[in-house]
Amino acid sequence: MTAPTAAVPAPVPTAPGFEPLLSAKDVVVDYGQRRGSFRALKEVSIEVGAGECVGLVGESGSGKSTLGKAILGLVPVASGSIEFDGRDITRLKGAKRRELASSIQVVFQDPYGSLNPAMTIGDILAEPLTTAGTSRREARAVVSEMLDRVKLPSNVLDRYPKEFSGGQRQRIAIARALVRKPRLIVCDEPVSALDLTTQATIIDLFIELQRDTGVSYLFVSHDLGVVRRICHRVAVMYRGEIVETGDGEQLTRDPQHPYSRRLLTASPIADPVKQAERRAAWLKLREQAA
Ligand SMILES: Nc1ncnc2c1ncn2[C@@H]1O[C@H](COP(=O)(O)OP(=O)(O)OP(=O)(O)O)[C@@H](O)[C@H]1O
Ligand SMILES: [Mg+2]
Repeated sequence: MTAPTAAVPAPVPTAPGFEPLLSAKDVVVDYGQRRGSFRALKEVSIEVGAGECVGLVGESGSGKSTLGKAILGLVPVASGSIEFDGRDITRLKGAKRRELASSIQVVFQDPYGSLNPAMTIGDILAEPLTTAGTSRREARAVVSEMLDRVKLPSNVLDRYPKEFSGGQRQRIAIARALVRKPRLIVCDEPVSALDLTTQATIIDLFIELQRDTGVSYLFVSHDLGVVRRICHRVAVMYRGEIVETGDGEQLTRDPQHPYSRRLLTASPIADPVKQAERRAAWLKLREQAA
């Protein structure tokens, strides 16, 4: 087993003067029609600073992925606002929203579903660049830089996703999220599907990437151990609300809210069937948005 090697991330100041890169205020998201609609987010507020990793924990169905989707513009926000780098992005549509893909990216739990099986790794990684107008030559240079960053050899370029293990595929998915040099990556349970050893190496990779590029993460996880290792701050979600936010180390050691305490004693288990359904729905949404 490979021991984790990356240094524990340094805390990011949250004292007065801390300028959030992402700032969500009182965000409400409803699913379904007016009659029988379901409020998945109830006035949720969260901030993520530049170079910061903010963890989002909570039981299955508490609204973690929904918050990620709201930030990515994949579900409509009924009220409240989302600002990115001082700009209101709550209801950006079409070309303006697509432009934002250079700043905000996503890594999903399931690298099998999120990589097109019919495309080579080289094409998967170059596509976000070439569709944004980058020349093929320049795209090749960026792709090779990102392969280095995620520690994959350049001979992967002509191969297909099915030829790789789960951990390798997650490296490819991370490289794809990185090619446009985003400032924020929404990571929705990016290590939950991996075995423990692979988890440790991918978490180290996330930490290293953040240290080297200054990218911010909103990091959704069921696993408080994972969150403790990678996140500077943690927000606990319960039934569509954030019930507690705090320093990662302290909150996972000494939670104040009764629900956070319960979470700590009984780490929630993901519901794989429900998650697979939601994931499929999300991927479809993402295709529509692209
Ligand atoms: N497309 C949808 N239509 C209707 N309800 C939805 C939809 N997506 C999610 N929900 C509901 O919204 C709530 C929040 O779901 P969400 O996927 O955000 O939870 P989560 O915290 O990410 O859960 P998990 O840990 O299982 O991934 C759940 O009750 C879920 O059933
Ligand atoms: Mg989820």
